[in-house]
Amino acid sequence: MDTLGATVWTTGLSGSGKTTIARELASRLRARGAKVEILDGDVVRTNLSKGLGFSKEDRDTNIRRIGFVANLLSRNGVIAITAAISPYRAIRDEVRATTERFIEVFVDAPLHVCESRDVKGMYAKARAGEIKGFTGIDDPYEEPLHPEIVCYTATETITESADKIVTYLESHGHIPAAVAVS
Ligand code: ADX
Repeated sequence: MDTLGATVWTTGLSGSGKTTIARELASRLRARGAKVEILDGDVVRTNLSKGLGFSKEDRDTNIRRIGFVANLLSRNGVIAITAAISPYRAIRDEVRATTERFIEVFVDAPLHVCESRDVKGMYAKARAGEIKGFTGIDDPYEEPLHPEIVCYTATETITESADKIVTYLESHGHIPAAVAVS
């Protein structure tokens, strides 16, 4: 299947479900023959962005790098799915302006839900003051104003969230509509 390529840019708090959505979406799209890559903040920070911290400057550099790679992929027929907090609106909008077919997905879960999940135990450390400048605790998260898609992961299932994105990609011609099996 030929896909047009696109960047599906998930943004949201740590623990909001970006990586889970990215993986579910990737497996669905691959099953349909699309070329897909995931650029996950946690993974990118072990290679491409190794050595960067969590100051605003370092986060912006991290996001610019992810955006740069996502754009290379999307203009070559790959659906690049990114999963980084990307807390600053201005830098997300900068990447939007320079990236082919940029689709912003706000992974929206209330802070108390992300904190209660505390998948990596980092919120507890942030509350204890062991990690400074943690997004949502003592560092800002700027919600998107006009995201193409919002996934409410506290109230919808991962299937529902992924469905929204697949439907968007179909209706905008990024992937062919699924062939109905009779
Ligand atoms: S971003 O702000 O530059 O987009 P990114 O998504 O790459 O962040 O990395 C976020 C992950 O790094 C979190 O899920 C968490 O595991 C870890 N982390 C470590 N320190 C912080 C911090 N101060 N704020 C947010 N996440 C942090």
